[in-house]
Amino acid sequence: MTIKEKITELFENNKGVYMSGEDIAERLRVTRSAVWKAVKALQDEGYEISAVTNKGYCLSESTDVLSATGIKKYLATELSYLDLKIYKTVHSTNAILQEIAIEGGKHGCVVLSSAQTGGRGRFGRSFYSPSDKGIYMSILLRPDMNADKATLITTAAAVAVCEAIEKVSNLKPQIKWVNDIYIEGRKVCGILTEASFSMESGRIEHAVLGIGVNVYCPQDGFPDEIKNIAGYIFEDRRNDARNRLVAEILNCFMRRYSVLAQNSFMHEYKKRSLVIGRKITVLSANKTESAVALDIDESCHLLVRYEDGREEYLSSGEISIKL
Ligand code: BTN
Repeated sequence: MTIKEKITELFENNKGVYMSGEDIAERLRVTRSAVWKAVKALQDEGYEISAVTNKGYCLSESTDVLSATGIKKYLATELSYLDLKIYKTVHSTNAILQEIAIEGGKHGCVVLSSAQTGGRGRFGRSFYSPSDKGIYMSILLRPDMNADKATLITTAAAVAVCEAIEKVSNLKPQIKWVNDIYIEGRKVCGILTEASFSMESGRIEHAVLGIGVNVYCPQDGFPDEIKNIAGYIFEDRRNDARNRLVAEILNCFMRRYSVLAQNSFMHEYKKRSLVIGRKITVLSANKTESAVALDIDESCHLLVRYEDGREEYLSSGEISIKL
């Protein structure tokens, strides 16, 4: 651990408590000037550390800076093998992790960033990722499964994100087929899984599971294109909300992932469905058609009935729903 990491850990574990520079230096066996330098660097990174004469330094209790130490506080012990890589700003965490995967990166490598300048969404769209307002995370997976089962990863992730949000906020998130998470009629999370598979064996070589969550409202609101759809979880900044949410998403997802082939998450997926029983519009390349969503099967296919009475199982694609 570097001096800065040690000092970060000490602050994270003593939020709201004043500690003198001398005390910190003594506890960590470092010089007072090293403490001062680390405090300065942490303040520059967004940590709200106040310095008061005769009292010392104190990290604010409502600090919510994304950090490996902060995440590990809430991470299940069996997940201590996860390799958390945290950045301030990147183009896209999925793109970075794809490169890491191609270079032989291990299962369990997790890339997180406080902001993305080119966050990728489904259907070639972008994902709005303003600084310090959300969670932009990608997880490298090396599953032993056929390519046709890749959607299980995304659907299990949708369930895990709902469970994690509920744990941290007490809100009741729902899933809009296939994998958008909604709270009170607004999209708060999108999931994009990008997988690479072997043509010969038809097996998945690696999958990059990308999860974007809107935790707080962006400073100037959401851009016009998404302002009627997008929502967020918390009104005010909360102590460790993002670190805790990241950890809970990893805890819930990895638990579901370890028994992925059993499809046991589908029961929970259906329970949380926002679409079953509702009027929807099925959007395909050249037409849109009104239908009713009837059911979701074990492979996450959506059974719809069109207005002329035809029924069809949809395996992918996009639907819209009036909320
Ligand atoms: C969607 O709603 O269309 C999916 C959005 C997925 C966004 C996440 S944010 C982290 C990861 N990195 C990306 O570039 N995209 C995913």
